[in-house]
Amino acid sequence: MDRPKGKVVFLNGGGGVLGRASALLFAQEGARISVVDMVKDKADETEQLIPEAALSLASDAASWLTGQAMVLDGGISCNYFTIS
Ligand SMILES: NC(=O)c1ccc[n+]([C@@H]2O[C@H](COP(=O)([O-])OP(=O)(O)OC[C@H]3O[C@@H](n4cnc5c(N)ncnc54)[C@H](O)[C@@H]3O)[C@@H](O)[C@H]2O)c1
Repeated sequence: MDRPKGKVVFLNGGGGVLGRASALLFAQEGARISVVDMVKDKADETEQLIPEAALSLASDAASWLTGQAMVLDGGISCNYFTIS
């Protein structure tokens, strides 16, 4: 799977179960990962598993600004949280 190589992946909910598992897979495939989670500690825990590939960010991924930044950056965006 070459498509993620060299790309930035925004993993929203990246501190959770599915987000963390995806972060590990994307890192294996050569992507760099923005681990976005409302709970900074959870994002940090994911980052610490793949420090060479990941950067943790605390943000509400449901907000307009976050979504806009993803589009402008041309990255891959994956959402692993429930919008309530
Ligand atoms: N785990 C499964 O087997 C499974 C199966 C089917 C569907 N799902 C769905 O997939 C999604 C993720 O599942 P999970 O098990 O990884 O959940 P999880 O609770 O482990 O992780 C969700 C993460 O999203 C974060 N989060 C919540 N709202 C956010 C927001 N607005 N912005 C940024 N981060 C936010 C939480 O802090 C948490 O770390 C959920 O919607 C769940 O219902 C999960």
